[in-house]
Amino acid sequence: MTQERPVWSSKLTFILAAVGSAVGLGNIWRFPYIMGQNGGAVFLVVYLFLILTICFVPMMAELALGKHTKKECVKVYEDVSPKLKLLGYLNPFTGVLISSFYFIVGGWIVNYIVKSLADYKITDYASYFSSFVKDEKSVIIYTLVFLFICIFLTARGIKRGIEFANNVLMPLFAVLLVGLLIFSLSLPNAHLGLEYMFKPDFSKLNGHMLLSALGQALFTLSIGMGALLTYGSYIKEDKSITKSAYTIIFSDTLFALLAGIMIFPAIFSFGLEVDSGAGLVFVTLPYIFSQIPHGNIFAFAFFVLLFAAALTSGISILEVSFATITERFNISRIKAATILFFGVGSISVPAVLSFDKLSNYTIFSKTFFDFLDFVTANIFMPLNALILCLIAGWCYKIKGDTIIKNVVLAKLFDIGLKFVIPVVLVVVLYMGLK
Ligand code: PHE
Repeated sequence: MTQERPVWSSKLTFILAAVGSAVGLGNIWRFPYIMGQNGGAVFLVVYLFLILTICFVPMMAELALGKHTKKECVKVYEDVSPKLKLLGYLNPFTGVLISSFYFIVGGWIVNYIVKSLADYKITDYASYFSSFVKDEKSVIIYTLVFLFICIFLTARGIKRGIEFANNVLMPLFAVLLVGLLIFSLSLPNAHLGLEYMFKPDFSKLNGHMLLSALGQALFTLSIGMGALLTYGSYIKEDKSITKSAYTIIFSDTLFALLAGIMIFPAIFSFGLEVDSGAGLVFVTLPYIFSQIPHGNIFAFAFFVLLFAAALTSGISILEVSFATITERFNISRIKAATILFFGVGSISVPAVLSFDKLSNYTIFSKTFFDFLDFVTANIFMPLNALILCLIAGWCYKIKGDTIIKNVVLAKLFDIGLKFVIPVVLVVVLYMGLK
């Protein structure tokens, strides 16, 4: 029995789901920490430049390929030539690798929610993060709880849940972020954070930073692992995708900037390290909440909303593998859920252990957790985006004028898809890895 493919009930549902996929931990957790490791404002300039010039093309190509073929991503590649099947599999594979660290960060959030509920004194956990991540049993449990919730919701189908999370919770999250940002700006020395974020020092520009900015741009916009292709494949034929692409880019960038303006002034005000890595936000936020009257309530609200944002992104990451497993092997969603739970879980566990017991085992001088994060965003996603542009432009012959109304933009899209973007991706990959 072949399974019926889902379709979005309306255009709005699709846009909300796509924005939900984009806005997540990439904006609130990953963006500030990667920016902090890459020199601040100059990174922001490069990142914004890439978002505005480069990312639109692969994003449109992914959505258009999905909408046009109505297939899961491996089949999209295989239909061009059976030899490309393996490259197709690189998409869900990237998704599984992303999941295995994304859900750990989700687990951290669940822990912070529990702690704020238990009326844990926020000041107690100002330095709490570094000891918490070493409490491996708890982190593994929280990670699996978050993974389970996400897989359960994805297994039930793509539409339910997503609409509520995006319609109600995301606007609420934006409002809370603005509130916290205003507070953060009122702290002593806040201007140092703003300078760090907005006063670029172009002498810090280098190939490695360029690749980090590209990786972050692709990661935050969910480009380059089949998520947008899969969501695009559930669109009904007559819906246009250009406005959706603008909406995704606009909302995602807005959330990243709000997060940055909330975090950086606080980092400088409290004298924390900007380049401390993956724990940055989880160390800074408790400081902020500890300064606010009734900080627990704000902490609770913040982490619940961040949880919702992570959930809608997590669902989109998992949906790629769900689509591939169920459609290619004709396996039910429940069985696919079980396979994914154990598959992702078994990579997550060593990643959790890499914060303590396995911290001496490094790959290219990165712990396993950092390596997963680095290799997916900075290598697999640009690579997948590159292959996808080539396939969409040269094999499926996706034409700008069939998906974009504006004639000039449509022409630019054609040239970008077949020539400019693939070349830029190769150059940035080369410069960054050299
Ligand atoms: N864009 C998501 C975020 O910012 C993460 C993600 C990556 C989702 C890749 C789907 C695909 O959190």
